[in-house]
Amino acid sequence: MVDDAPRPPAPASAGTFRDRLRGCFAAAFQSLAADGIVAIDAVEIPTLLEQVRETADAKFGDYSGTMAMGLAKKAGKKPRDLAIEIARRLADASGYAEAFAPPGDPVGPGFINVRIRDEALAAAVSAAFRDERLGVPAVAEPETVVVDFSSPNVAKTLHVGHIRSTVIGDALARILGFRGHHVITDNHLGDWGTQFGMIIWGWRRFGDEDAFAADPAAELGRIYRLVRRVVDAKPEDVAADAELATRVAEHPHAAREVLLETAKLHEGDAENRALWERCMAVCLADVDRLYRRLDVRFDHALGESFYHPFLADVVHDLEERGLARESRGAIGVFLDGDEKPPFLVRKADGAFLYATTDLATIRWRLEHWKPDRILYVVDHRQGQHFEQLFETARRWGLPGLGEVDLIHVAFGTVLGDDGKPFKARAGDTVDLGWLLDEGVGRAAALTAADEGLSLEERRRVAETVGIGAIKYADLCQNRTTDYVFSYDKMLQLTGNTAAYMQYAVARVEGVLEKGGIDRGALRSTATPIVLADPKERALALEIARFGEVLEDVEADYRPNVLTAWLFDVAGCYSAFYDALPILKAPEPERSSRLALCDLTGRVLRKGLELLGIGTVRKM
Ligand code: ARG
Repeated sequence: MVDDAPRPPAPASAGTFRDRLRGCFAAAFQSLAADGIVAIDAVEIPTLLEQVRETADAKFGDYSGTMAMGLAKKAGKKPRDLAIEIARRLADASGYAEAFAPPGDPVGPGFINVRIRDEALAAAVSAAFRDERLGVPAVAEPETVVVDFSSPNVAKTLHVGHIRSTVIGDALARILGFRGHHVITDNHLGDWGTQFGMIIWGWRRFGDEDAFAADPAAELGRIYRLVRRVVDAKPEDVAADAELATRVAEHPHAAREVLLETAKLHEGDAENRALWERCMAVCLADVDRLYRRLDVRFDHALGESFYHPFLADVVHDLEERGLARESRGAIGVFLDGDEKPPFLVRKADGAFLYATTDLATIRWRLEHWKPDRILYVVDHRQGQHFEQLFETARRWGLPGLGEVDLIHVAFGTVLGDDGKPFKARAGDTVDLGWLLDEGVGRAAALTAADEGLSLEERRRVAETVGIGAIKYADLCQNRTTDYVFSYDKMLQLTGNTAAYMQYAVARVEGVLEKGGIDRGALRSTATPIVLADPKERALALEIARFGEVLEDVEADYRPNVLTAWLFDVAGCYSAFYDALPILKAPEPERSSRLALCDLTGRVLRKGLELLGIGTVRKM
C-alpha cells in the first residue's frame, strides 16, 4: 500500500453526526483538490473541519460549514460559487446520503447548511436509548491523562478559593474518563511548606493539649492564625491590639524562627517530624471529610512532602546539564537570559521551592505513569509559574517529555457581592465547610415544603441540592472569568442552575413513575423512537449531540459547555412535555415518547453525574 494515498474517510456509522459530516467534508475537500479547483494541503484539513459546526439558527438546518468564505480567495472564486462546488461533492461523499438530507443551495455569502435525515436521527436516538453509553462514542485513541487538581495547602482548612480547582478538576476527570481516556487523578497536597513551620513553632509556644483533644482541627487553625498574625504584624496592628503587642514583644524573631523550624522539619529532625505527622493526620481527616461530602475522590494524593527526597537531585541534575546556575547564593534556571527573573529552584539559605517540587513531580509522573497529558487545574494567578515550569521541563529533556502535553487549566476568582474576592464579613476567607453548610441550609428551606418526604430523605435532598447548586454555579461559568458567588441565584428553580436541572430529572422520571412504567422492560422491548413532531425532533437532536458536547468540553477543558447543553436539553424537554401528550397518547407514539422520556432522564442524570452532581427522586 502506498503511504501517501489519501485515507478513506471513517466509516459512516462510527462517531457522532458531526464526525460523520466532517468525514464527508474531508472527502469533498480531497475531491476539490484532486480536480484542481483549490489546492488544499492535508494539514489544513483539520482546521477547515472545525468550521463544520452546529448552526446558530435551527431554521437553517442542523450543521453549517462556513469554510467557503475563507477558502474562496485561494480558489479565485466567489465564496458562493465555491460553496456550491463543495456542497455538490459533499452530497456524493460516501456515507453522506444515509445520514444527511441533500444540502440545499448555499445560504448568504456561502454557508453550507446540512440537516440530519429524520430517519437517521430517529435511528441514532433509538440506539442511544438501548446503549449504556447513551450513544456517546469513546475516543478512538485513548490517552493517559494526569489531572492534578484541588491540591490545597492543608495546614489551614479548605476555603472558598479551593472550590474551583476541586470542582472543575473533578468534572474534567469524570468527563475525560467517560470519553474513554485513562485518567489518573492526583491531589498535589501542599503538606510541606512554611505553614507547617508556623504550626510547629506555634505549637511549642501557644499550643493547648486540652483544646487539641477537644477539637484538633480548630486548635491547629487557632495556632496557625495566631502565628500568622505575629509573623505578619504591622506597626498599626500592634498599636491596635495589646495582646498581639505582647506576643510580638515576646517573639521578636518569630519569622526567622519559623523558617528554622521548617528547615529542621525538612532536614528530618525527629521531633518536628513527629509533630508534623500528628498535625497531618488532623489536616487530612479534615479535608477528607470535605471531599467525601463533595463526592470527590483521588487515585493518588502525593503531596509536596513525598517529593522532598528527590529535590537535591533535581537541582544537581539541572546544574549538571547547564540549565541552572547560581545567582547571589540562590540557584535558578535563567529562561530569558538575564533580563527576566530566573525560575528559582534553591534559595540562598538552601531551601527548595515550589518550583523544585513541581519539577520533581513531573519527572516522577513521567517515570511512573507515562502520561500523554498532564492537566494542572490551578488558579490563573499561577500562570507565570506554570509557563516557567513547562519551559524548564522541556529544556530539561526528560525522557518521554517530548510527547507529553503540559496544560495549565487556569480559572478566575470567586467574588463576593461587592465584586471583590469572596470574604466572610470579618474579612477572613470563607471556610469551605461553612459554605457548604450554608448552601445546604438554604436548600433545606427550599425543599421543606414537600410533605411526601421523611425527615431523613429531606436531609439527603437538601445536601444533594445545596452542594449541587454550589458546584453547578461554578461549573456553568466560563472558567477563565471571575464570578460572583450568590446563594440566591444558584438556588433558583428556574434558569441554568443545578436545582432546575435536578428538578427536570425528577419531572421526567415522575412521568414514568406515574405511568407505572418499568424502565428496564421499556428498554428491552423493541420500541423504535419516531420523530413525528418538530418538538420530538428538537429534543432528539439535542440528545444526539451528547458526544459532540463532551468532545468540545475536552477540547478547551470547559465544563460550562456541558452545563449549557444540559440546559438546552431540559428546555427542549419542557417544550416537548408541554405540547404533546405522553401517557395518554395512542400507540405507537406513546411508547416512542416514553422512550424519549427515559432517554432524556438518563442523559440529564449522566450529564450531572459527569459534573459531580447528584440527583434526587423527588424535590
Ligand atoms: N498547593 C498549591 C496552592 O495551593 C497548588 C498546587 C497545584 N499543583 C501543582 N502541581 N503545582 O497554591
